[in-house]
Amino acid sequence: MTLTQDFVDALCDIVGIEHVFTDDLGSYATDWTGRFVGTPSCVVRPATTDEVSRVMRLCSSLNIAVVPQGGNTGLVGGTLAHDGQIILSTQRLKWIDEVDEASQQISAGAGAILESIQDAAKQSGLRYPIDFGARGSATIGGTIATNAGGINVLRFGSTRQQIVGFEAVLPSGDVIEHMGGLLKDNTGYDLMSLLCGSEGTLGIVTAVRLRLVPVHAKRTTLLLGCQLIEEVIHLVGGFRRDFDSLDSAEMFFDDGAQLVSATFDVVIPFQSKAYILLDFSADADQTLSIHECLKRMNFSGPSAVAEDEINRTKLWRLREEHTAAISTRGVPHKFDVTVAVSDLPEFIDAVRRRVFETNADWSVFVFGHAADGNMHVNVVGPSVNDESIDEIVLRVVADFNGSISAEHGIGSAKKKWLSLSRSQIEIETMKAIKRAIDPKGLMNPNALFES
Ligand code: FAD
Ligand code: MLT
Ligand code: ZN
Repeated sequence: MTLTQDFVDALCDIVGIEHVFTDDLGSYATDWTGRFVGTPSCVVRPATTDEVSRVMRLCSSLNIAVVPQGGNTGLVGGTLAHDGQIILSTQRLKWIDEVDEASQQISAGAGAILESIQDAAKQSGLRYPIDFGARGSATIGGTIATNAGGINVLRFGSTRQQIVGFEAVLPSGDVIEHMGGLLKDNTGYDLMSLLCGSEGTLGIVTAVRLRLVPVHAKRTTLLLGCQLIEEVIHLVGGFRRDFDSLDSAEMFFDDGAQLVSATFDVVIPFQSKAYILLDFSADADQTLSIHECLKRMNFSGPSAVAEDEINRTKLWRLREEHTAAISTRGVPHKFDVTVAVSDLPEFIDAVRRRVFETNADWSVFVFGHAADGNMHVNVVGPSVNDESIDEIVLRVVADFNGSISAEHGIGSAKKKWLSLSRSQIEIETMKAIKRAIDPKGLMNPNALFES
């Protein structure tokens, strides 16, 4: 179904002709991995909540489906739009308010970039703790819609734990505004938690209020080399027990480190089968107690420690550049899964074996957020449309009672396997909520649920 000129003109009347596109939609139509390519008929970029509301009312009246898009850094084909559907970009909703020192909270438009919010908090001597490699282009609205996790979940929780207020436009065009930031507000259903992680299928987040945390001046990054994953788990367990200053515990392996090093000329301080990258933030120097903890755990492997920004960044690049480095090897099939931390060794072994048995020429890169049991399994080799490997890997996850989506969401990439992590009654209940809020099924119809 092509969109009528009248409809496009009506959109132009709302947001201005320079913010409605019907040609050259490539950058909006293709996801970050290059695996999912849509055919949206139009992109509209409203600048205010009122413009979003008027666009939604117009689309609802004409039964036109809307796919919200923020920074388009999602990794599950969540902003896929097809003929006759439009992409609503939030990029112009990028205002950021002054930090509210009294409540230690900040408010921002959904299009504000994660890193910009981190910087605004820093200027007030505070910290927005959600952080991950796409910080420079992911929008705060996108992190809400995906309930993004990242490298500091271990200490601060996921995005849902940071939200104290929100504003959203429903499929009807109605606006919900609840930006008060009251920490205690037990007045019925928590609609914000429902919208968080809903992947644009229930409404468009237009603004958010976030809690901030204190900044601890002393940052220490520690890289440890291990022969076994069991050793990694032992070390992470020990540091979690003894250090409430532990922000991150990231695991990766020799093959990924070599690939990052070769691709981006990043120095690997020492060779090892497995690596654990630990990051601490505290007011006092931690190095002595860190070494005492390593001694208590009889750690005798190689290590590198960094306390200044430059050297900390060098160590972190070894981990954070995995995503980009893997994408230079081809379009990966990306799996973002959770299993019990104690199951990690067996799970990683099982996945590698299953992929190898399927095709010995395919590459498997595993890395991730070890303390959360959240592994990113990337398989390079299968063609983009060959879902046989997705079936294989996600069934291994189910065998370990794991989640087929730890932090990236379901999008269009995983919806076929939602029942591996959710029971039929859960799925039916979620669909009932969707029907109640979006009776015409116009909000991001390609994501989350198979039709
Ligand atoms: P988009 O990709 O534009 O959209 C993502 C989903 O949210 C879509 O379903 C879209 O419809 C919906 N959406 C977007 N904005 C809104 C809105 N305002 N209202 C309603 N729905 C909306 N994710 C993690 O969780 N942890 C990581 O560690 C992590 N690391 C990454 C590293 C790299 C290098 C890259 C490329 C991505 C990474 N991601 C990670 C994935 C991604 O960055 C996150 O999912 C992020 O939250 C997406 O934000 P976005 O603005 O780009 O959203
Ligand atoms: C990460 O932790 O680096 C991301 O979630 C991205 C990825 O899975 O590639
Ligand atoms: Zn991740």
